[in-house]
Amino acid sequence: MEGATPLNTRIAVVTGGSKGIGLEACKQLAGGGAITVVLTARDETRGAAAVEQIKRLGHAHVIFHQLDITDASSIARLADFLKTRFGKLDILVNNAATDGIEHVIDPVYGLTPGDEAFNGMDAGQRIDWMWTSCRQTYETAKQGLQTNYYGTKRVTEALLPLLRSSSDGRIVNVSSNFGLLSFFRSEELKQELNGVDRLTEERLDELLAEFLRDFESGGAEARGWPAEFSAYKVAKAAMNAYSRILARRHPELRVNCAHPGYVKTDITRNSGILTPEEGARNITSVALLPEGGPTGRYFSEGEEASFV
Ligand SMILES: NC(=O)c1ccc[n+]([C@@H]2O[C@H](COP(=O)([O-])OP(=O)(O)OC[C@H]3O[C@@H](n4cnc5c(N)ncnc54)[C@H](OP(=O)(O)O)[C@@H]3O)[C@@H](O)[C@H]2O)c1
Repeated sequence: MEGATPLNTRIAVVTGGSKGIGLEACKQLAGGGAITVVLTARDETRGAAAVEQIKRLGHAHVIFHQLDITDASSIARLADFLKTRFGKLDILVNNAATDGIEHVIDPVYGLTPGDEAFNGMDAGQRIDWMWTSCRQTYETAKQGLQTNYYGTKRVTEALLPLLRSSSDGRIVNVSSNFGLLSFFRSEELKQELNGVDRLTEERLDELLAEFLRDFESGGAEARGWPAEFSAYKVAKAAMNAYSRILARRHPELRVNCAHPGYVKTDITRNSGILTPEEGARNITSVALLPEGGPTGRYFSEGEEASFV
């Protein structure tokens, strides 16, 4: 049994907390005081090690719970644990995600992020470097949607009753500038995904199924879906739309999306510009906005911005 939870503490859950931005977000939330952080990860050993790392920094109120966001029984076990132990949830940071691509060796640019010359590359060149060192297949695309959209959605649905038991429930969906609608070349798709007063979850499911069909038949680009990192972009755009639907449905909650910036983590193969700590700050700052703040919004590196 962990140390007793102090009275009046807020409870935060972070998904994908054992490394990268998720780990740093846990540190920041646990270090801020008056928040008990439930660090979740699919791998128990790495999750427990991450908790120990945070405790060594002197932040006592952090505990581990296993969570694979693609596994319904794992999600249910987390929800049961939170209900029994705390009876509520104040902050949910949906951080866990995958890249929806397959890495290949021998990038066209012969550089790697450790090289001196790599530092001289701008963000666009680094993203090109990532793109030339990967490929997207139907399987990776499907997996990308399953984790980044459906996994995030299932975790959110399971924890919603607990968030609604909080007097100030917040959800921060860790999004990406890759999820912006400007990457969609079809005006029709763009308008549908932006029209959140009409858009339904059922229609989102249909659109994602259409994307996979178009991808499998080789017609995704012609239909106007994003061309590069397609599944990642489509999943993040769908998650943004779902967040806006949720924010409208639950005005008692704060539901926002936050882009951390281009960060040096595994998902970018360490090609980013910001440190994980800096990236996480752009997430925790949204999680900790003053009470009664904005909802249904998109924050890019800490600043409110457009979903388009
Ligand atoms: N880095 C960037 O430049 C950047 C930019 C925009 C947005 N983001 C977003 O920031 C978030 C964090 O990414 P990161 O940069 O920190 O990358 P990362 O270091 O690769 O971390 C991804 C995390 O997600 C976890 N995860 C993946 N699939 C999971 C599953 N099924 N169940 C539970 N956890 C799972 C990973 O756990 P395992 O260790 O078990 O795989 C890992 O902890 C993601 O939502 C990403 O899309 C990152």
